[in-house]
Amino acid sequence: MQVNTADFAISSTNVDGCPKTHFPEFAFIGRSNVGKSSLINMLCSKKIAHTSVKPGKTRLINHFLINNAWYIVDLPGYGYAKVSKTDRIEFEKFISFYILERKNLVCLFVLIDSRLPLQAIDAQFMQWLAENEIPFCIIFTKIDKLSKTELQKNMAHFEKQMLLTWEFMPGYFITSAEKKTGKEEVLDYIHENIVEYNKSLQSK
Ligand code: GTP
Ligand code: MG
Repeated sequence: MQVNTADFAISSTNVDGCPKTHFPEFAFIGRSNVGKSSLINMLCSKKIAHTSVKPGKTRLINHFLINNAWYIVDLPGYGYAKVSKTDRIEFEKFISFYILERKNLVCLFVLIDSRLPLQAIDAQFMQWLAENEIPFCIIFTKIDKLSKTELQKNMAHFEKQMLLTWEFMPGYFITSAEKKTGKEEVLDYIHENIVEYNKSLQSK
């Protein structure tokens, strides 16, 4: 799928502020600094999401309208150590409300740094998604920072760790915003999901 237009729509502090729409949407979440905003820019071939070397850059729910037909959502990162406990609880509430209540959320992409073994916070988060039956996929980021052999080794290790508690490895993509790796694959996956979503809307 081609991204022809990508425009910032709105920043919201809670799910009630998000666009009232039936357009399908795809949200990107993961630990702070994992590369969510960079990946969104890579998918759109445009610097629409703000990126930063410092973690904690994205603090709101940011909607971007794509091809006047669907949304990409840039979410704040979790697990940012410098956030106070009260802020973290508030944050977790507003993100979990968004995830649980957003009816047009078709798929959540959980971004994971390809250089790291499975982190407890990501494992807990994916567990919570599964318990709440939220459809998600993993996107491994920053693969340009690894050699082919290191990447293979890390992927095998990650899968082994997942399979200690999961019956199967969730679907995943391997990406680099730097080298534009995985762009077609992620966009094609989104396209397939949009087609399915629109079919299910019509049959209602
Ligand atoms: P928060 O909004 O703070 O949670 O961060 P984020 O997950 O949106 O990360 P962001 O896209 O701002 O990227 C964080 C840092 O990682 C920036 O310095 C990016 O340039 C860098 N980065 C992101 N993706 C890649 C990648 O694929 N390769 C490399 N080498 N660096 C990347
Ligand atoms: Mg960000």
